Amino acid sequence: MLEVESVGKRYGSGDREVVALADVSLSVAEGEFVALVGPSGCGKTTLLNLIAGLDDVDSGQIRVDGESPAAEQRLTRFGYMPQEDMLFPWRTVLENVSLGLEVQGVDKREARGRAVELFPQFGLVGFEHRRPHELSGGMRQRASFLRTYLLGRPFLLLDEPFGALDAITRGQLQAWLAETWNRIGGSALLVTHDPHEAVALSDRVYVMSPRPGRITNVLEVDLPRPRTTRAAETQAAHRLIDFLRHETEVDEVRA
Ligand SMILES: Nc1ncnc2c1ncn2[C@@H]1O[C@H](COP(=O)(O)OP(=O)(O)OP(=O)(O)O)[C@@H](O)[C@H]1O
Ligand SMILES: [Mg+2]
Repeated sequence: MLEVESVGKRYGSGDREVVALADVSLSVAEGEFVALVGPSGCGKTTLLNLIAGLDDVDSGQIRVDGESPAAEQRLTRFGYMPQEDMLFPWRTVLENVSLGLEVQGVDKREARGRAVELFPQFGLVGFEHRRPHELSGGMRQRASFLRTYLLGRPFLLLDEPFGALDAITRGQLQAWLAETWNRIGGSALLVTHDPHEAVALSDRVYVMSPRPGRITNVLEVDLPRPRTTRAAETQAAHRLIDFLRHETEVDEVRA
């Protein structure tokens, strides 16, 4: 269980000070899939970096399973798929996806064996020995997701995993993620710009506004599980999506 409580974060000082987050609170219970939507620059990546332990909060607390581990202790609690895919161009797809395990000290052969087993589920069979530039954008994202998933951490932080993709590929990957999630389970905090994606995949959506980044709304998404992206085509889902669109458009204007 993750609890973010009244977290604040500033960058810079004096004239250049940016209040990236002010008094942000949210929670993700075990097994929940939670989305965070908000316009560019509102502090979504900042928040994930803080949760993952890559940076320290200025105020507030981040609790994991009721404890308040220091930032560096949180580094191993979450599987973090960053906004940039971070695939190394000189490594093959297989070498890239097994890298996380190897860094953790898992024997190279063992790490690659475990990775290869998951290639079918991630739609990457036949591309084990290709380089990242030979993959489509959607495949790169699946490879990046596989690298994160392989770490075996029960809580994933996903930063706009489909943000850079065209609408059709994004739709396909959303459906794939919904289905994959039904199978693998676990907890997740997904950052997205896309209200449809947020409603289709999550149990709850937090809406953020920029400068300073704060939570302005929380929506429960009461759609049945196991989820498919079709669930987001119902009338109830459309009402939520319209509401979120309106909320985020208002924020874009305010920003
Ligand atoms: N390392 C940093 N140093 C200084 N300012 C930063 C740093 N990281 C982020 N910021 C500022 O903090 C604010 C929030 O940035 P952040 O990257 O968290 O936004 P975001 O919601 O993830 O945006 P996007 O949707 O474009 O990815 C922005 O104003 C940004 O300029
Ligand atoms: Mg970001």
